[in-house]
Amino acid sequence: MASVLVFDSGSGGLSVLKEIRSLLPGQDCHYLADVAAFPYGNWEEGALAEHVVGLTSDAVEKTGAGVLVIACSTASTLVLPLLRERLTIPIVGTVPAIKPAAALTDTGVISVLATPGTVKRDYTFELIAKWAPETAINLVGSENLAEMAEQKLAGHPVDGQRLAAEIDPCFVEKDGRRADVLVLGCTHYPFLADDIERYAKWPVRLVDPSAAIARRVAEVLGKNIADVLPGGHQSDNGRASEAGALTFETTGAQSDFPSIARSALGLKNFNDLSTDP
Ligand code: DGL
Repeated sequence: MASVLVFDSGSGGLSVLKEIRSLLPGQDCHYLADVAAFPYGNWEEGALAEHVVGLTSDAVEKTGAGVLVIACSTASTLVLPLLRERLTIPIVGTVPAIKPAAALTDTGVISVLATPGTVKRDYTFELIAKWAPETAINLVGSENLAEMAEQKLAGHPVDGQRLAAEIDPCFVEKDGRRADVLVLGCTHYPFLADDIERYAKWPVRLVDPSAAIARRVAEVLGKNIADVLPGGHQSDNGRASEAGALTFETTGAQSDFPSIARSALGLKNFNDLSTDP
């Protein structure tokens, strides 16, 4: 069975891995966190592209993965075309969910919260031109939220005032219409969804693309979504499939990564995890 390699600069991609495991519990997965280079948000584009293409190509070779998931919008919005030229396996990216957000908004005003890198990318502007040309899009580059999500996953309390300051620019009005949809344009942010809702200036619908990315992974693996039963147990001739193997690797020493991954994936004990340092 082809394994799936999920990649991010840190723990954010665990939000995507969680959905993949929920949809496809029998799927073997590897997770690679580039913690030595985190955060990607302010990297110069050329250097980041070269770095990510090199690292992920090597990891695909090493793991023998059959599908690569770039569970990082900051990287996806930059390297997807390059990676697709370089690798022969299917690549699933995560890019800001502009299309579903445009379908959801009632006011026609949307905020996209992402890293400073993602909100500057041509790719993001192309998505807007293609899927939301009539919608008012407010792009918000956050300097600190990805790190705040890492801190939360490591067990530290979220500083509400600091979080409120980061999300404040999302709450805009245009011609008397308030932004009513907020795109979580970085895979770290779903881990702060409760906090974002709590400190939101007014109610907004959050768009978290993780589940859609998992469905796309199932599709490229040739799984029939209709066979995936509610509750996450994939039908296999009437039998629930066995839990897939899971391995983790980080580019730098991060001794608490197993505990972060356990909490992010909702696993009960360390035996649920195998680490591959
Ligand atoms: N999780 C990443 C993303 O989706 C990047 C966070 C970072 O490295 O700044 O954009």
